[in-house]
Amino acid sequence: MDISMLKQSLAQYGQEHLLAFWETLDDHDKRELYKDITEINMRDVTTFFKRTTDSLNEDQEKLDDRLQPVPSEIYGSAAQTSKEKLKIYQNEGLRQIAEGKVGVLLLAGGQGTRLGVPYPKGMYDVGLPSHKTLYQLQAERIRKLEELAFDHTGVHGSIPWYIMTSEHTKEPTLDFFARHNYFGLKKENLIVFEQGMLPCFTFDGKIILENKNKVAKAPDGNGGLYRALNEKNILENLQRRNVKYLHVYCVDNILVKLADPVFIGYCISKGADCGAKVVEKSFPTEAVGVVCKVDGKYQVVEYSEITLKTAQKRNPDSRLTFSAGNICNHFFTTEFLQNIVNEQEFSLKHHVARKKIPYVDSNGDIIKPEKPNGIKMEKFVFDVFQFSNDFVVWEVPREDEFSPLKNADGAEKDTPTTARHDLYSLHHRYLVAAGGELVHDKHMPIILSEPSPIHNGNGTIQETNNNEIKNSNLKWKGPMICEISPLVSYAGEGLEDIVCRKKFQPPLCLRHPLEKSFNKNTCDKGEH
Ligand code: UTP
Repeated sequence: MDISMLKQSLAQYGQEHLLAFWETLDDHDKRELYKDITEINMRDVTTFFKRTTDSLNEDQEKLDDRLQPVPSEIYGSAAQTSKEKLKIYQNEGLRQIAEGKVGVLLLAGGQGTRLGVPYPKGMYDVGLPSHKTLYQLQAERIRKLEELAFDHTGVHGSIPWYIMTSEHTKEPTLDFFARHNYFGLKKENLIVFEQGMLPCFTFDGKIILENKNKVAKAPDGNGGLYRALNEKNILENLQRRNVKYLHVYCVDNILVKLADPVFIGYCISKGADCGAKVVEKSFPTEAVGVVCKVDGKYQVVEYSEITLKTAQKRNPDSRLTFSAGNICNHFFTTEFLQNIVNEQEFSLKHHVARKKIPYVDSNGDIIKPEKPNGIKMEKFVFDVFQFSNDFVVWEVPREDEFSPLKNADGAEKDTPTTARHDLYSLHHRYLVAAGGELVHDKHMPIILSEPSPIHNGNGTIQETNNNEIKNSNLKWKGPMICEISPLVSYAGEGLEDIVCRKKFQPPLCLRHPLEKSFNKNTCDKGEH
């Protein structure tokens, strides 16, 4: 350890306070701190800080005059597309999946501070009857989609699943999948990698010490993806596997349709290099980023970046003019990503997140601040839209595809309860569309007298054990509990043979016979 050299270099960047406790540390702690500091590229991070905070002033200028909505010719909408056309898109997506050309990439490096659990959000169990975690639901959707692609084409294709984690989430994620036998996926098709970390700064540009021998660091945002794609050789992996199209999405949307063949097929048929799935913004002041054009380039603009007047602007059909609500659900060609990684990554700006960052004070005490005391610098995954030459947008009904888990129960929105209820509601609609019915009047006959095997061509489907129904019948209150395993249906397909003209008493769980027991297959209790 060359401490005098380190002191000099820190002084050059105004960060010599990082060694304030040096003399009080034992050898082990000295080595830890030395490693922690020397891993940081001081020139880069102080440049990022300056660039980010300088642009804060510019950013506060409202963007209204430079803003245009996404042109209608590149704005598709599932609700306004004919069934025939949707089928064409879907078939194209399934064909590409069967050929092994489609991958999915999960952004799971966030710290999930609002949800407040000490493990990765993907391991969260929102309390479905099956107790499946977000990771398990996603794994099973991939499995089902591979099966559907095979049924459609007769060709077996795998969907490789890339999972971007961070220092906090990598090991627990790897361990979780291993303990659960990769939820039936092939181990080699699960590629877990780690994004970079950046030091946290005070508002005046000093790097924060979390404790005497540790620098406060945070993941570099979901846009850290582009750097990680290069540094962790993921781009190379995509190319080696001949994956041409990637669906990138966030961990927290319980309704996410991974590698949605309709979306993939739509993007491919439009020749897109980059696409965004969106939902219609609900009301002008909703805190959701909106996909639009700024100075002719595609971008996601936050509500705070425009005036209320612009946010309230409506088209003749009364829809909001800026209505394309971003749900972090993107399509990229591998070629586009290669260009981003090689040519554009460095120019992507960091954004400032003002956060409460625990720190060590001058007495050596750890302080947990009650209001934001510093900043984390984050890149955003959607900031690459500006580089697209063939950008498209695909709007889907929110109730079918978007219900994020952000907060713990008790918050107003985006909680385990809202996620659970949104999933029940969607699955209930699948059931009804397939001719089934849920009944919750306790005087209605219970249709399932025994766990009765029903055949659907794929095998046997078992419903919830009747005893569970009877017991819960008396105390049951609340929403129509209806959960359909992704192994039974990816998006409502294939249910007619199972449910048509049948009445079911909630809670209803439709599961595949391969799912021996819900409890065995899912998250250990300790992880909830
Ligand atoms: P959020 O911005 O909602 O952050 O991330 P979060 O970490 O999940 O939650 P809070 O803000 O701390 O409460 C949106 C998506 O981006 C991923 C998250 O894992 C989530 O899927 N993400 C976020 C990353 O992959 N890396 C990051 O550095 C930040």
